[in-house]
Amino acid sequence: MTDEVSRTERIKEASDYLRGTLAEGLREEITGAIAEDDQQLVKFHGMYLQDDRDLRSERTRKKMEKAFAFMIRVRIPGGVLTPTQWLALDQIARDYGNSTMKLTSRQTVQLHGIIKSNLSATMKAIDAALLNTIAACGDVNRNVACNPNPHQSRAHSEALELARKNSDHLLPRTAAYREIWLDGERIVGGEDEVVEPIYGKTYLPRKFKTVVAVPPLNDVDVFAHDLGFIAIVDEAGAVTGWNVTVGGGMGMTHGEPDTYPRTADVMGFCKTSDAVAIAEAVVTVQRDWGDRLNRKHARLKYTIEDRGLDAFRAEVEERAGVTLMSAAPFKFTSTGDTYGWTHGADGRSHLTLFVQNGRLFAKQMAALRTLAQSHDGDFRITPNQHLIVANIEDAKQKEIHRAMNEAGLLAPRSGLRRNSMACVALPTCGLALAESERYLPDLLTALDEKLAAHGLSADDIVIRMTGCPNGCARPYLAEIGLVGKGPGRYNVYLGAAFDGSRLSKLYAEDLDHAGIIAALDPVFAAYAADRHKGERIGDFTIRAGFVAATSNGRDFHANVRVS
Ligand code: HEM
Ligand code: SF4
Repeated sequence: MTDEVSRTERIKEASDYLRGTLAEGLREEITGAIAEDDQQLVKFHGMYLQDDRDLRSERTRKKMEKAFAFMIRVRIPGGVLTPTQWLALDQIARDYGNSTMKLTSRQTVQLHGIIKSNLSATMKAIDAALLNTIAACGDVNRNVACNPNPHQSRAHSEALELARKNSDHLLPRTAAYREIWLDGERIVGGEDEVVEPIYGKTYLPRKFKTVVAVPPLNDVDVFAHDLGFIAIVDEAGAVTGWNVTVGGGMGMTHGEPDTYPRTADVMGFCKTSDAVAIAEAVVTVQRDWGDRLNRKHARLKYTIEDRGLDAFRAEVEERAGVTLMSAAPFKFTSTGDTYGWTHGADGRSHLTLFVQNGRLFAKQMAALRTLAQSHDGDFRITPNQHLIVANIEDAKQKEIHRAMNEAGLLAPRSGLRRNSMACVALPTCGLALAESERYLPDLLTALDEKLAAHGLSADDIVIRMTGCPNGCARPYLAEIGLVGKGPGRYNVYLGAAFDGSRLSKLYAEDLDHAGIIAALDPVFAAYAADRHKGERIGDFTIRAGFVAATSNGRDFHANVRVS
């Protein structure tokens, strides 16, 4: 490789298929951290090295090392866990983590605060629960998300099956994970052994995210992802095939207009039997065509912008040996969750709980533990950071409802809070410029007062916050998006579509708490006074001239009216 490739490319290539010096580094007791290059590699094993940023200045003053700990992200395709697996993760969070669980916007569980000396025991406990963390982060196909709604039972089970197949097929094959975390021994293959038939030595240029959606719900936010499959369902509820989407992504950098969020394009339609071959071809074209010089231009969304959708499709078809058909019509209605009880076509009942920003604290974990101990359905994490308890027996419904209510896990009345989501940000995320998860609940309380004054309390309004422009909680697809700019300061974005099909646009910049409320109150007032029947606030803000509509990524930074 030349000197021109990014540093991460060189680390990957020299890593011997993700080994680096991780095994040695874990034995090093003098520090709670690991070597700098290994910090990149450890992501491929599903974890980030972080430090508690609340404690940084005090520890610097005392000349102490930063309070290092690892965040571990579990790989849970489609977000579905058995009660036994739920109990195992709950136990791990209490034994080794910070005694909370974070349900993420891509249907996984994140465990925070795991110190280096507990890593090995944690990874073994995850393995014992028949789970793993391989490729939950890093430049690989990450956790495959999938519509989790059990009441659409037939299409859902086919969607989940495709999610699992894609997840398995696109897993890294290196034995490094098993060696480092579980067995401790290296089994050497023959000289000609192909270690990574799909990825090769340097894996992908950047992270890669796949989802499976079942209309009318776009809860996975299919247009935010590199690769998506949209189920096309016939009248009997069976899946006839899939529309394939490519080139969505959220991340951007403040002040760099060459970086932008982008909604995916619909590339065509394929049969179920061809879907995995198409997924592999999309991955390998991105492997070969993606930018390895500049990580800020390395996601599939930029490859498609640069090469064009037609050229990309032709190369995918050639490699997969499949000709895509024209996309079939589909209609999404919303990106949110349907809270409360639903009763499936098969006579079973399911309860969708509300978990504020996906964070479960001691009281809620205890309530869910009790539930899991006597429950034989499953637990499904939603892509909105909430939780579905599926397949509940009729006789248990009343008791479960009472217990979940007591634990504060039933959905609130506020239409804004019901449709809210925040990324982790401070104190653990090293990239956070501002608070997110710890601040959004209070901001919602303040905004709810304004909404109540305009008679809008019960209206569904999608609001999402992130602590930096990377966009982990998909703020650019929210009707109100708040993105951290600096401590206590946020950019406000408006105008995204309720069904997740259109990005937002910058409305106001660098606002503090009072500034956010002052900027949004007139928008609420105008919406209450002038909206058409059934008109969503995202559409209204465009019609009323608060922001221009964003057609797609390249246009995201255009026509901004901020002074
Ligand atoms: C350059 C882009 C990005 C970087 C460097 C990045 C980095 C990170 C880091 C360090 C965390 C851990 C935070 C913590 O737990 O303390 C995180 C969380 C997360 N990120 Fe990202 N991220 C990026 C973009 C995205 C995007 C675009 C998505 C989704 C579409 C995403 C999805 C997630 C999810 C699901 C979590 C878990 C926490 C949550 O649900 O809030 N990330 N990210
Ligand atoms: S959006 Fe930024 S602050 Fe929030 S978790 Fe992602 S990287 Fe961290």
